[in-house]
Amino acid sequence: MLRRMDFFDVPVILEIENRCFKNPWSAFAFWELMSNEDCYCIVMANKKIIGYGMACLEEEKIHILNIAVEKEERRKGIGTRILQDMLEYGASNKKRRAFLEVRRRNCAAISFYERHHFNKIGVKRRYYSDDDAIIMERLMG
Ligand SMILES: CC(C)(COP(=O)(O)OP(=O)(O)OC[C@H]1O[C@@H](n2cnc3c(N)ncnc32)[C@H](O)[C@@H]1OP(=O)(O)O)[C@@H](O)C(=O)NCCC(=O)NCCS
Repeated sequence: MLRRMDFFDVPVILEIENRCFKNPWSAFAFWELMSNEDCYCIVMANKKIIGYGMACLEEEKIHILNIAVEKEERRKGIGTRILQDMLEYGASNKKRRAFLEVRRRNCAAISFYERHHFNKIGVKRRYYSDDDAIIMERLMG
């Protein structure tokens, strides 16, 4: 079941975040986004949370900020459902494009976004302390 992220979800989300990323976000980062009315934060949960996504509305675009799925739950379509829900949120708010930054070395995520019709449109050098970011974008609809 997909639902809105809650402040009480943050401890479990942080555990997943720490397992998924070398430079995980802090609890404060999650709280801040959840408090921002332009941001859309969701979790996929059955009995427990197995994935989550965060996105923000920015001018004519929706910015996909983060998607993560527990390792043992990957390749089951969960990332796709989270991403599609965020894209629908953008479309329902009349956004015409979606964009994101992804680590150049994160081949799995780049394949995932390409599968969802995102194209590479640029590079931000040293965007991360140890890697460049690839900027990817897709049109809505
Ligand atoms: C990227 C991520 C969210 C994808 O989640 P997921 O639930 O496994 O994705 P899905 O099952 O919906 O995958 C859909 C398609 O994306 C592509 N894909 C997903 N993972 C892939 C991988 N490891 N290698 C190649 N392609 C991949 C495939 O085309 C896949 O379809 P298929 O399984 O039929 O081949 C997940 O791998 C993850 O949490 N990674 C760690 C966190 C991360 O890097 N997030 C992105 C930050 S920008």
